[in-house]
Formats: sequence, C-alpha cells, structure tokens
Amino acid sequence: MTQPLLEMRDIVKSFSGVRALNGVSIKLARGEALSICGENGSGKSTLMKVLSGVWPYGSYEGDIFFEGQAVKAAGIRDTEALGIVIIHQELALVKELSVLENIFLGNELGSFAKLNDEDMYRRTRDLLKRVKLEVSPNTLVRDLGVGQQQLVEIAKALNKNVKLLILDEPTSSLTRNEIQILLNIVHDLKDQGIACIYISHKLDEVLDLSTWVAVIRDGDHIDTRSAAELTQNDIISMMVGRELEALFPREVHDIGETVLRVKNAHAMQAGASIPQVNDVSFELKKGEILGISGLIGSGRTELMQCIYGCYDGRYSATIEMQGQSLTIRSQRDALAAGIAMVPEDRKRHGIIPIMGVGRNISLSVLDDYVTYLGAIDENRETQDTVDYIARLKVKTASPELPIKNLSGGNQQKAIIAKCLLTNPKILILDEPTRGIDVGAKYEIYKLMHALVKEGMSIIMVSSELPEVIGISDRVLVMHEGRLKGEFDHQGLTQEMIMNCAIKEGV
Ligand SMILES: Nc1ncnc2c1ncn2[C@@H]1O[C@H](COP(=O)(O)OP(=O)(O)OP(=O)(O)O)[C@@H](O)[C@H]1O
Ligand SMILES: [Mg+2]
Repeated sequence: MTQPLLEMRDIVKSFSGVRALNGVSIKLARGEALSICGENGSGKSTLMKVLSGVWPYGSYEGDIFFEGQAVKAAGIRDTEALGIVIIHQELALVKELSVLENIFLGNELGSFAKLNDEDMYRRTRDLLKRVKLEVSPNTLVRDLGVGQQQLVEIAKALNKNVKLLILDEPTSSLTRNEIQILLNIVHDLKDQGIACIYISHKLDEVLDLSTWVAVIRDGDHIDTRSAAELTQNDIISMMVGRELEALFPREVHDIGETVLRVKNAHAMQAGASIPQVNDVSFELKKGEILGISGLIGSGRTELMQCIYGCYDGRYSATIEMQGQSLTIRSQRDALAAGIAMVPEDRKRHGIIPIMGVGRNISLSVLDDYVTYLGAIDENRETQDTVDYIARLKVKTASPELPIKNLSGGNQQKAIIAKCLLTNPKILILDEPTRGIDVGAKYEIYKLMHALVKEGMSIIMVSSELPEVIGISDRVLVMHEGRLKGEFDHQGLTQEMIMNCAIKEGV
C-alpha cells in the first residue's frame, strides 16, 4: 500500500466495562474504499464513532493517524476540519429545513461565511448535480424520500471538502435504482482520490465497491483482505466463524384453512387524489408464510397498516378472522384480536430509546404482568424477556441497558421479540431483516418456520427478492396500490416478480 491516508492502530473501546472493540487496526490510502463487515453488534459503528470523534480522544485506547499526523479529536468538528466526514446509520438532516439550509447548516461561521444567497444557491445546485439529485435547493427535506435524503447527506459531505467519507449502512432503506446511483457516486469519489469506508450487510455491494474488506467479530479484528480475492461466501465465513449451510432454509409447511380474509381494502391520504391502497382483497392461511412484494411505494406497507389499524389517513377494509368479522381501529384492537406487527420504521413506531431492552420487549403485554396488588411481577417479566433475548440472540450487556445503546441490528431483533411476546395468531413483518447480518437473518428465518409450524400465520413484506422467494409459501405482488399477481413459491423467479411489479395496466 502507498502511504496510508488513515491508520487506526489497536483501538480498544469499552462501555461500562464491556469491551466493544478489542484492539482493531485498519488502514487505507487515497482513492481506496475499505468495507468493514461483521455481525450485528460486532463493533463496526463503534469503530467509526471513534474515528469520527463522536467518542473523543481519551475515551478509547489506541492511536489514529490521518495524513501522517496523530489525531486527538475532542468531537466531530475536529475530524471534519481534517476532512473526515461520517454519515451515520440513522440520518441526521433537519426535516423542516430546505436542502440548501441543511447543506450549509453548521458551516455558517466557517469558510462559507462570506457567501451570499446567490452563491450558496449556485453551490448547492452544483453539489446536487454531482450527486445526481434533481430537486430544487429550496425543497424541504421532509418532502424527499429516504434515498434522496441520503444523497443530500453526501452532497453536504462534499461541501465540506471531504478526504475520507464514512458511510454506515447507507443503502438499507433504498430502492434498487437509488442504490445504483449511490454506488456510482462512491466509484466517482474514489476516482477523484477521496477515500471511503463503507459498512453494509449487503455483500454484493461490498464486493462491488471495495479495495479492501476488513472483518471484525465480537470486537476482534479477524483479517483484512483484498476484495479482488474474496467471494461473498469467504466474507460470510470470516464473519460468523463457520460456513452457513444455506442462506434460506426451506421447510415444508402444513398449511391449514383460511384464518384471515381481507376484502376491499382502500387507503388514501388526506388531500390526495390517488389511493395508496386500491381495492385489495386476499386471504391468509393457517401455518402459512405469505410474502408481499412490489416496488417501494406500491402500497405494501400501507396495506399492512390498514390491517393493523395504524394507517395515517382515510382507510377502510372488511376483515374477517377465523370467520368472525373484526373492526380494527388501533394497534390495541389489533393486538387484542391476535395480530402483531413489526413496523418498517422502527425509530418511529417500534421502540422507546431510553427505556431498557427488556421493558421495551414486554411493553405491549405489561398488563399481563400486573399482580393483584397492582404491581408488576418483575421476576416473571424478566424471565420471559430474557427467554426471547436468548431465542433471538439479541446482543445486549443486560436487559436493563437502554435500547438506544444496542447496535442497529440488535434493536431490530428486540422489536421482533416484543411482537412475539404478545403470542399472536398472525404476525406481520415489514422488512424484517433490514440491517440484519447474514447469520442472524438465517436465525430469523428458522424462527419464522418454527412459528408457523406451531400454527401461527405470517405476512412478510420484503424488498429483498431472494428472501421473498426463499421463505414464502405464496407471494402477492403489488403495483400502484393494487394487487397485481399471486404466485406459488415453486418455480418462482426474481424476473417473474419484477415483471409483475413494474408492469402497467390491469
Ligand atoms: N453507547 C453505548 N453504550 C453501551 N453499549 C454500547 C453503546 N454503543 C454500542 N454499544 C455496544 O457495543 C457493541 C457494538 O455495537 P456497534 O453498534 O458498534 O455494532 P455494529 O457492528 O455497528 O452492529 P450493527 O450491524 O447491528 O449495526 C454492541 O454490543 C453494543 O450494544
Ligand atoms: Mg452499526
């Protein structure tokens, strides 16, 4: 390697005595991309927080060198001044401000203080062109999709004269097109001599972009290898410490009679002219995994929200469960009927960040633990939550740890545990494996199979076609609010789903 731009040596970081990083070393040169791979909770985001100054000098052990100089940052302002910019796993734009305002936010007093409005407008327009985002600089961020917001974050980074760009799981909520745009931008940046650190559970992206792949497992640095000599399977076995037999365990389900019948579901936002869900009817059988596919925006999530009683707008549907008609107007009604849902956006609907992991899991069924004296039977509560923490392999130092301190993927597992504790008859999973590592995905699929064998029925909305095909018994495809197709999993291919998902006409 030529003279490295960045070198991190023997980084050790602990949280209240628990080691998250156990002596990790990485380096990379200008124009190179380094991917960091590892299971949920292995320490990837923590390493990046050390690098970017979120965890300041003195709160970790080890050394960091950038352009040959020792870095002793007190915060992210110091590392940004050096040209190190991080885009976190959770986006950090101010939704009520415009694209332009977000791009210059935090920079008003810096080198741009002299710029007038017109200069800023022109500069923003040029930056947006560089990231291939065709929106006006005055657009409010809240009116942009997640993928577009991600591009604004990159534009903002480019405005800071970035030398090293860190992307922590940038594509987990993006559409295929948006992912391609993002990958192209990273390739362009490399060509311009900018270095990039990339974190993703999508190993095809990792291999597409990287010069180097570093693998960490439980805070230990396993190895760094040249991406050119690696396959996805090599990375997986370095990550999990063993070969996985298969990515998708296939099991035969004993499918019974219809448990849920949804008829004529409609959903429309206030003031909108086109419905998000347009006259959808379908059935779910006992012991079945029903996959729901379709492009982002095709109405899949909104259909689930109609069933779960949490659609934010006008909606109607006739719902029958085991032959009985149901009225579901709230999450409470749904849970009482035996329907639980793991939402797509866990930050907004899923968790209470500062509350402990255990209590987050038991929250929906807390009433069940109230004793006749009116207190909560904490022993029984802990027993149940600890059981699910083990079953789903949620990596947490203790059940009392605030859930916000868990790694992204482990928060997701805790939300699934929370739903399972309600012991539902019907479980709705909206993008259940987003941000989850390959080993844990496999565990979740096995758990889904076990649950339907016990008689539960599962509806899974997913944008990952291999997952939809690999796990479902039957697949429904949506297009612009309507149900466009229904397929048995046997003989089903990605092309068949894509053709159905993008086809115009009825
Ligand atoms: N602020 C914190 N307080 C306590 N523990 C923490 C804190 N931040 C991280 N941890 C712990 O450090 C470990 C590593 O977490 P980290 O977020 O770095 O994982 P990750 O590799 O990014 O995982 P994922 O793929 O799920 O995002 C986890 O066990 C996590 O619970
Ligand atoms: Mg992370």
